Amino acid sequence: MLTNMREELLKARNLKRAIPQFNINNLEWTKYILEECEKEKCPVILGASEGAIKYMGGYNVVVNLVRGLIKDLNITIPVSIHLDHGSSLESCKQAIYAGFTSVMLDLSKEELKKNLKETKKLVELAHPNVLVESEIGSIGLTKVSEKYTDVESCKKLLETNIDLLAPAIGNKHGIYEGQAELDYKLLEEISKLGTPLVLHGASGIPNEDLKKCISLGITKINFNTDLQLAWAEEVREFVKNNNNVYDPRKIIKSGELALKEVIKEKITTLR
Ligand code: G3H
Ligand code: ZN
Repeated sequence: MLTNMREELLKARNLKRAIPQFNINNLEWTKYILEECEKEKCPVILGASEGAIKYMGGYNVVVNLVRGLIKDLNITIPVSIHLDHGSSLESCKQAIYAGFTSVMLDLSKEELKKNLKETKKLVELAHPNVLVESEIGSIGLTKVSEKYTDVESCKKLLETNIDLLAPAIGNKHGIYEGQAELDYKLLEEISKLGTPLVLHGASGIPNEDLKKCISLGITKINFNTDLQLAWAEEVREFVKNNNNVYDPRKIIKSGELALKEVIKEKITTLR
């Protein structure tokens, strides 16, 4: 069932649980994620970055792919299609018109004034059917939170009526060098503002730390790199040991179980 996940997120927040966002890259990943989440009866947010959307062919391809899989695989869990790190109001619009059920506008690297202005326009356009996520501070790729979130700016952003807030609390995308050190005090402060919070860059963060984040108000947790690492390792091994196989279905499928194992572990942690 395709949904914007509003009710599920509020329920999860009250129960001190989190809903996973797993990023999708192609047909197979989308299928494996849906199958595993259905098996575990876990609502899932399918995150599609602009890069992944372009790779798959476009916004409409993504929506129709997900809709088709839900139908043909008899998926009964709540599923949402989310634009991950949308870089402009324009890309969010394209996602909404194609049928995405939630969008993230990531203007975290812009001046606060511009972020607020564009987010406000987006909320007006998206609500009530489509949820809006916004990032404040800057989570970054190369080092931990390039700019940590400040609580006063959060308050201003929340006045725009966004549904989900993604703070920068020491998290980062990709592989952490050493242990991730999250600022739980800051998280607690931001959490008091009352809006469901999103943890980006959750790959590589130990399960116990993820649980602590959930207890402090994180309601949506985004995973991508851990899935990619597990899948790629298996596929590399398969290709090395089966260099006569040339059927792409077999090669891609060789990473299925490893991918599903990671998904199951994350789901168990978030419950
Ligand atoms: O928006 C997507 C995520 O924040 C994924 O981060 O690749 O570090 O798990 P990750
Ligand atoms: Zn992210």
